[in-house]
Amino acid sequence: MARDESQQGLLRDDPSKHRRSLSSNDGDAGAFDSDSDLDATDYIDREARPKKTFQVQSRPQRRWCSFLFTTLGRRSKGCIGVVAAILVIWLLLMAGGAFVYKKAKEEPPYGQSPPWYPTPKGGIASTWAKSYDKASKLVGKMTLAEKVNVTTGTGWQMGLAVGTNGPAVHVGFPQLQLQDGPLGIRFADNITAFPAGITVGATWNRQLMYARGKAHAIEARQKGINVLLGPCVGPLGRMPAGGRNWEGFGADPYLQGVAGAETVKGIQSENVMATIKHFVANEQEHFRQPWEWGLPHAISSNIDDRTLHELYAWPFADAVKAGVAAVMCSYNQLNNSYACGNSKLMNGILKDEMGFQGFVMSDWLAQHSGVGTALAGLDMTMPGDGATWANGQSFWGPELTRAVLNGSVPLERLNDMVTRIVAAWYQLGQDDETKFPKQPPNFSSWTNDRMGVLAPGSSSPQDQVVVNQFVNVQANHSVIAREVAAEGTVLLKNDGGLLPISRNGLDAKRLKARRSVIERATGKQHEGKFKIGVFGEDAGPGDGPNVCKDRNCNQGTLGSGWGSGAVEFPYLVSPVESLRKQFDSSKVELVEFLDNKLSFSGNDSNAAVDELELCIVFANSDSGEGFAKWEDVKGDRPNINLQKGGDELIVKVAGGCGGGTGDVIVVIHAVGPVLMEKWIDLPNVKSVLFANLPGQESGNALAQILFGDTNPSGHLPFTIGKSLEDYGAGGQVLYLPNGVIAQQDFKEGLYIDYRHFDKMNIEPRFEFGFGLSYTTFKFDNLQVTQLRRKTALPQPRPTPAATPPSYSTNIPDGSEGVFPLEIRKLDKYIYPYLEKDEVQKIKVGKYPYPDGYETQQPLSGAGGAEGGNPDLWAIQVRVDVDVKNDGPVVGAVVPQLYLQYPGKNGVDFPVKVLRGFDKVFLKPGEFKTIKFPLTRRDLSYWDVEQQNWVMVTEGEYKFLVGQSSRDLPLTGTW
Ligand code: BGC
Ligand code: BGC
Repeated sequence: MARDESQQGLLRDDPSKHRRSLSSNDGDAGAFDSDSDLDATDYIDREARPKKTFQVQSRPQRRWCSFLFTTLGRRSKGCIGVVAAILVIWLLLMAGGAFVYKKAKEEPPYGQSPPWYPTPKGGIASTWAKSYDKASKLVGKMTLAEKVNVTTGTGWQMGLAVGTNGPAVHVGFPQLQLQDGPLGIRFADNITAFPAGITVGATWNRQLMYARGKAHAIEARQKGINVLLGPCVGPLGRMPAGGRNWEGFGADPYLQGVAGAETVKGIQSENVMATIKHFVANEQEHFRQPWEWGLPHAISSNIDDRTLHELYAWPFADAVKAGVAAVMCSYNQLNNSYACGNSKLMNGILKDEMGFQGFVMSDWLAQHSGVGTALAGLDMTMPGDGATWANGQSFWGPELTRAVLNGSVPLERLNDMVTRIVAAWYQLGQDDETKFPKQPPNFSSWTNDRMGVLAPGSSSPQDQVVVNQFVNVQANHSVIAREVAAEGTVLLKNDGGLLPISRNGLDAKRLKARRSVIERATGKQHEGKFKIGVFGEDAGPGDGPNVCKDRNCNQGTLGSGWGSGAVEFPYLVSPVESLRKQFDSSKVELVEFLDNKLSFSGNDSNAAVDELELCIVFANSDSGEGFAKWEDVKGDRPNINLQKGGDELIVKVAGGCGGGTGDVIVVIHAVGPVLMEKWIDLPNVKSVLFANLPGQESGNALAQILFGDTNPSGHLPFTIGKSLEDYGAGGQVLYLPNGVIAQQDFKEGLYIDYRHFDKMNIEPRFEFGFGLSYTTFKFDNLQVTQLRRKTALPQPRPTPAATPPSYSTNIPDGSEGVFPLEIRKLDKYIYPYLEKDEVQKIKVGKYPYPDGYETQQPLSGAGGAEGGNPDLWAIQVRVDVDVKNDGPVVGAVVPQLYLQYPGKNGVDFPVKVLRGFDKVFLKPGEFKTIKFPLTRRDLSYWDVEQQNWVMVTEGEYKFLVGQSSRDLPLTGTW
């Protein structure tokens, strides 16, 4: 394939066909030139990498069994099951393999991602110039081994945090401590369990996004963490059942971008490095990693160039613009090249086009080659282990030392990796002990005991030291946690203004009216206290919030999803706990049914339910990271229904409450959209609150909303459809492998979530951006002000504001990589060193670099500074609207601006896209003018031919403003 063609798009494909032929399954065998990145992998397989051991980490038999369950969706036990499983797998692999091989002319579908070499060096941005300057002085003094040490993790459980690289001791560069995750400090005590990303997204409140990030970072710093492994903006939420969507902020790139950037700024304001993850398109858990799902390779997300830019990579660009220190590349393949070995993605898009100045780290075991990933732009490998967890065999470490000594990884590349990492450390002021006290973590991820060893992953004898100091870092962060939870609660239905309710139940007059209705229905006299029923396991504490490891089960009230993005709850205020406290018990009697067994169908409890005058029923839906499963939720949800019989419970409560006439309030805790069709239209289901994943302050936040202390102002960060099918073919998780390498073609392109519902004219149950309030708002007076002329292309890319450091490019002496005698070697710990005799055998040779390695790529017109071409961020247009609180109580409104592109021949545009939002508090009668600044990027589309962001110069842009994606009363044009 001709080089110039390959540069035009993300896919090695005819750019004019950029929407079709996404994978081998589409035919077009001509597209399968050998993959640049894979060539390097092949090479490294032969030469500079430890033997590929595709062993399953532990209990291989169980893995195979779980694969069977994955594929067949049923359970079996014992050996017959295993044998059958093996047979079925074999057949499947044969069938899938035959299919793939036939289509790809005996080659797996490699080679759809074009080459982009060499890695652009960090140090071109004015914003980082000082840090690079300092970094170059430090790196200039490092030995080869020290440099390699900085790039390579020491191995799984070889430090106190989930990731630790090696220090460069002699020059004073410390070991960096990396810790999950996006909602709090994982595996730590005395920390805050903040609400999850999806709840933060639902607040639509920039200040809270920032404040949560800041509080999170204060805790990280005080626990001794340099690098937080969050925020998460990928998965974006293409599939509503995707297991980890809840770690991110919602199914729209603009919302993710703003929330991600605000979180990054909040975290980094406290001198902690933020990591934006997972780059990119890790949209589902099934097949995300080799072997975790039985298949030898990770799934490939096959995405066209425009869709990648406008959807999946978009929020990452915001994070880069916000100055993020680190990017984590994802497990999956992108266009059949592993994300952590994809040169187009890391070198081209991230480092050249977006001008990323920090470092790229691999997701844990997402690196699959040594030289290949280095050349493709990876800067740090985590946790250090290579093909297998915790076996001490790294693709880098000693192998990177070897690769530099034999000339296969240019020293320049290693220098850039290290410089990027050290510059990020300076950039965050971590060299300054007044801002960032130098201390190892004061907690261990691996034990709750006070004493322990520093590298529990190694079986070598080690001294017991204090590993847990139990430092309390929570301060008053519960306040922020509660505010986010409250503002992230979405009021979906409120017939007759049932909510807010009073702590005293109903006033005498309303109570009398209520009772006479119930009495008519039940034929029974009601008197005494106001009787409220609380239903559902999700209302109560269950067996406590931390009974399942990494929160990987659904029991008790749901405060977060599971996986590396979850924490140990310091406490979890359940809804029933705060209701018990807050209702005035002299006037209100609470009747509790804290399970989903519908046990109130017995005669006695039936009577009890009959007497209830108000019923609050809780239900939920959980999911998490694919390394753990709960019942039929294997990371991804199998559907988007309520779990544990939630639908039945709600229907039953509605039927029984006050003989079917009692008012019902439904409260949902969920990782994403759930179907509500079975009960949403029941006449006595008057109110519905969608509380997302509220974290530790769950019950308190809910009470604030129920009692009207806080007027609900959350809005949906995704669409709630009437069926899973309504989300379209692109909205479906791929549960069964469709080949040896599962292929997921993002054929729907830009049309996910509301973009799909709009295009197909499907009525959602509740649209993206929807949320009610106890007051009402009126929008008026939309004005469009042009600040810059409409031109198709941004200004030419600026010349770099700074020059990357340069160092000697001579291959260092082999002695710099030899294992020093004075170091005691821990078993399986990853060191950068080689043995003396190994070093002596190394010869500098000529190596077959990846296809396209020698071709200098043209620099992107969209690049040139941190965040890309600065002109993309220039404000082109401002839209102003007035909004007034014309209702009875104080409340916050979320004005949203959606954009409609002018028509353009040959370019398809979504009906509308979100391009602005704000949140303002208004007293009754008060009004404010909201200003929506629109940047050039906001108004552009990604043009695959021109490889740049292009504004449409003919026709008119239309702006629509209102309170949801389908309630947009004001329009204006430009
Ligand atoms: C997850 C990452 C996480 C890492 C470290 C991986 O399995 O995908 O999000 O940061 O583990 O725990
Ligand atoms: C880690 C994950 C990893 C899993 C593997 C978890 O504890 O945090 O990152 O995927 O273990 O078993």
